[in-house]
Amino acid sequence: MNKTNQHLPLKGQTSIVTGGSSGIGQGIAIALGQAGSNVCVNYHGDEDGAKKTKEIIEDAGAKCIIVKGDVGKPKDIATIFEKTNEAFGDLHILINNAGIQQDNPLVDMTYKEWDKVIQTNLYGAFLSAQAAAKTFLSQGNTSNNEKCKGKIIFISSVHDLIPWGGRVNYAASKGGLKTLMKSIAQELAPNKIRVNSISPGAIQTPINEDQWKDEKNRKALLEKIPYGRIGKPEDIGKVAVWLASEESDYITGTTLYVDGGMTLYPSFADD
Ligand code: NAI
Ligand code: BGC
Repeated sequence: MNKTNQHLPLKGQTSIVTGGSSGIGQGIAIALGQAGSNVCVNYHGDEDGAKKTKEIIEDAGAKCIIVKGDVGKPKDIATIFEKTNEAFGDLHILINNAGIQQDNPLVDMTYKEWDKVIQTNLYGAFLSAQAAAKTFLSQGNTSNNEKCKGKIIFISSVHDLIPWGGRVNYAASKGGLKTLMKSIAQELAPNKIRVNSISPGAIQTPINEDQWKDEKNRKALLEKIPYGRIGKPEDIGKVAVWLASEESDYITGTTLYVDGGMTLYPSFADD
């Protein structure tokens, strides 16, 4: 499609994507840019990855800045939001994507492994959502009470539903996100702020390399996916654009499972 004929559902809007230097965050940031949004790509350590995301977004004709910051640190969150405001003015979309795994069986799990995962996946998401809500509420725009004033999308996981032994820190962080998202959605709906989650299944990214690089592990992973393929960051990017657009204006407090059927308990299929 040539650039002038493109459908740009997010034209004139500004988004922040946390953890946008790789994987799902990178896929979402690119999809938002391709949909016409200005994008702030937050990154933690991988500056080259963030620059790559920016390059692809700018090639699509959208504007992009990259901002370094740890989502678990309130000061860094403030910087991310300030820099976005300086570059683009009003904010419309937050994608709460940054997340990590530090796996260990329960009895071996260190306090540090527990704390780091909760700090990044849960505190980070709380701090980012709080900053986005404050920003949306301070932006006025009260003249049209019918119009949505901001969108927050959490990138949760099928493991907000499926228990995951050996990763209790991760599963607890994602389970926590589920009620965090719903409670924030309930609180902010009267302010015309929509809050939802996307819960991906297995998406091929650096976080789960151990599950798809090796042929034996890849086969075992595919057995858990009725749809018969491992997901790609673009699968999540498309859904994020739709969930941030006016097309989904009546949706708030919902979790969309984008998982090729992983949550359908496939091992029961031929019981
Ligand atoms: P990834 O490892 O490529 O991406 C994680 C991103 O978070 C990286 O860009 C990393 O730099 C960033 N990050 C880590 N700690 C950070 C911090 N303290 N501050 C700011 N950024 C930080 O892996 P992936 O898969 O793209 O993960 C993205 C999100 O998707 C995570 O929340 C993960 O839990 C979730 N997810 C991933 C699935 C998968 O199968 N790949 C499935 C379900 C959920
Ligand atoms: C995890 C991945 C895993 C996927 C499906 C995600 O939340 O981060 O490692 O492949 O869930 O189990």
